[in-house]
Amino acid sequence: MDTAPNLVLVGPMGAGKSSIGRRLADRYGLAFVDADREIEARTGAPVSTIFDCEGEAGFRERERGVLADLLDADAAVIATGGGAVLDAGTRRLLRERGFVVHLHVSVDQQLHRLARDTTRPLIAGDDREAVLLKLAREREPLYADVADLRFDTGTSGAAEAANRLHERL
Ligand code: S3P
Repeated sequence: MDTAPNLVLVGPMGAGKSSIGRRLADRYGLAFVDADREIEARTGAPVSTIFDCEGEAGFRERERGVLADLLDADAAVIATGGGAVLDAGTRRLLRERGFVVHLHVSVDQQLHRLARDTTRPLIAGDDREAVLLKLAREREPLYADVADLRFDTGTSGAAEAANRLHERL
């Protein structure tokens, strides 16, 4: 990738969207923005509280608004939340205004990387594996639908994955 459109990372929780995105942004001399952190900054509340108060539908609406603004602003590397692709309007925005990379990760790797996470409302219950498998089944076609490139993050760390992805762009 020689010029600098918005580079948008989609994919499930634990795929490395933030850690890989930050490294890619450094390489390209672009800003890095994590859409979840931007939603939290705007609302003054953590994602889990937004889910509690407004439900998932309310969160998706905020997510769409934030992504629309980010895609209109200066070129950046943008990490989206794992469920951003559920919203048809968001999918349209991503397809139209970004170069979209789907970061793929296995459920085993997700479980490993998210083992100590307590911030994500969708995996707050007991059977994380079943939830992650279900989400993957539902969402894989949607990631494929918006992505210009599919990239398997494998089992390596973020630095190596960012290097490999940089070579593909
Ligand atoms: C979600 C993923 C989270 C966050 C929210 C919902 C999802 O983002 O947006 O908890 O629906 O998969 P990450 O993918 O950055 O964990």
